[in-house]
Amino acid sequence: MKSLKEESKMNKDTISVIDNRTGRQVELPIIQPSQGPAVIDIGTLYKELGYFTYDPGFLATASCQSEITYIDGDEGILQYCGYPIEQLAEKSSFIEVAYLMLKGELPKPDELKKFEDIIVHHSMLNESLKNFFHSFYHDAHPMAIMVGVVGSLSAFYHDSTDISKADHREIAAHRMIAKMPTIAAASYKHSIGEPLVYPKNDLSYTGNLLRMMFSSPCEEYEVNPIAEKALDLIFMLHIDHEQNASTSTVRLAGSSGANPFACISSGITALWGPAHGGANEAVLSVLKEIADVSRIPKYLEKAKNKNDPFRLMGFGHRVYKNYDPRARIIRDMCHKVLGELGSANDPLFELALRLEEIALKDDYFIQRKLYPNVDFYSGLIYRAIGVPSNMFTVMFAIARTVGWVAQWTEMISDSNQRIGRPRQLYVGPEKRNYVSPDKR
Ligand code: CMC
Repeated sequence: MKSLKEESKMNKDTISVIDNRTGRQVELPIIQPSQGPAVIDIGTLYKELGYFTYDPGFLATASCQSEITYIDGDEGILQYCGYPIEQLAEKSSFIEVAYLMLKGELPKPDELKKFEDIIVHHSMLNESLKNFFHSFYHDAHPMAIMVGVVGSLSAFYHDSTDISKADHREIAAHRMIAKMPTIAAASYKHSIGEPLVYPKNDLSYTGNLLRMMFSSPCEEYEVNPIAEKALDLIFMLHIDHEQNASTSTVRLAGSSGANPFACISSGITALWGPAHGGANEAVLSVLKEIADVSRIPKYLEKAKNKNDPFRLMGFGHRVYKNYDPRARIIRDMCHKVLGELGSANDPLFELALRLEEIALKDDYFIQRKLYPNVDFYSGLIYRAIGVPSNMFTVMFAIARTVGWVAQWTEMISDSNQRIGRPRQLYVGPEKRNYVSPDKR
């Protein structure tokens, strides 16, 4: 990766910022990306003019440089290391894309085989971790268990926490990708009071997850190939999404030098929120609340009412303002899964499709460019394959772990990397003197 400072110095394109209050002027370099809008390097702004910049929610701020994911929200484009998501969804697999994310290139057949082998052989958990699951209350939310167990991995795997060593970083990345389905399934099994199921090395990544979640020691379990394929696709579509809230959280935590397991655990907490990964669970809650097609107009009005906190979950996106390319791909899979698994008559699915149709014709949604996002459909697929709604965000976390570790690894090896430390616009009281309790 090129040094941003060097690139900035070499760059002839600049933008002038003139302070109209003082007449002072600064030339800020414009840095060209390989795709997408150029960025202004504001590094000297404070030094030269004494100003910070203000951008709540980072709507117009690039927090880092990255070679992993490219998004054009206006055009509905998503690329992983340059490959369009549509091509990967048609021709590739989750595990192949995971390799792409970590290495930047698609694997040759022998490289893929080796990578699959490594991931499979890291999928078991340290036996002592089993006790950790048992100490959670029986009705704990599986995301709460995920946060705790993933954070605790650093206590078990000391040989992969030295972030200055490339081999430690790589083993930590492999361990997290491999162990996430085992931890997720164990969280679920604990919540329903069933014994934890060990991984089986001859199954695929998603086949293994399905077996660990749905098999019992009492009978044989056969992985349903449609469920396995649908999960593989959902996971691939969720693998990374550049600097979203959870990924930025992982990077920020990692910028202080925290160990990788702790960083991924912080990403899981950020993902949990309903405006981010928690949306897929919230979609189902909203559909259940609406309950009947006849009540859709009432709920659309609630969604439009500024005084009503209700939002139509699964609609809208921070960057995709025309459509979510992942939603288009997953919508087709959703129809296929529901057709093949015989859930097409599920009243919630009918309701979802009517809601999608009505909302897409509604002026409020059209004007604000609010389209169904990937989570609108992923929740419906999970429901069809028997995943309970409190596990939806956990499924998202399994897939996004690949993006988190790829972005974390990229950040650690970036020569521009410094501890993340945003500034603020202070609007609190000016300096004042302490008032003793009897005088307040
Ligand atoms: N239902 C009703 N109104 C909405 C919705 C919604 N789902 N989303 C946005 N709006 C309105 C919002 O009230 C605002 O209206 P106005 O301009 O009159 O004030 C306008 O649309 C713009 O919304 P915003 O909140 O300023 O947009 P944002 O970019 O800050 O937020 C979002 C994006 C995803 C947080 C938001 O659309 C939302 O809360 N959607 C529902 C939750 C959801 O489905 N999230 C999953 C995103 S996909 C998974 C992922 O990548 O994490």
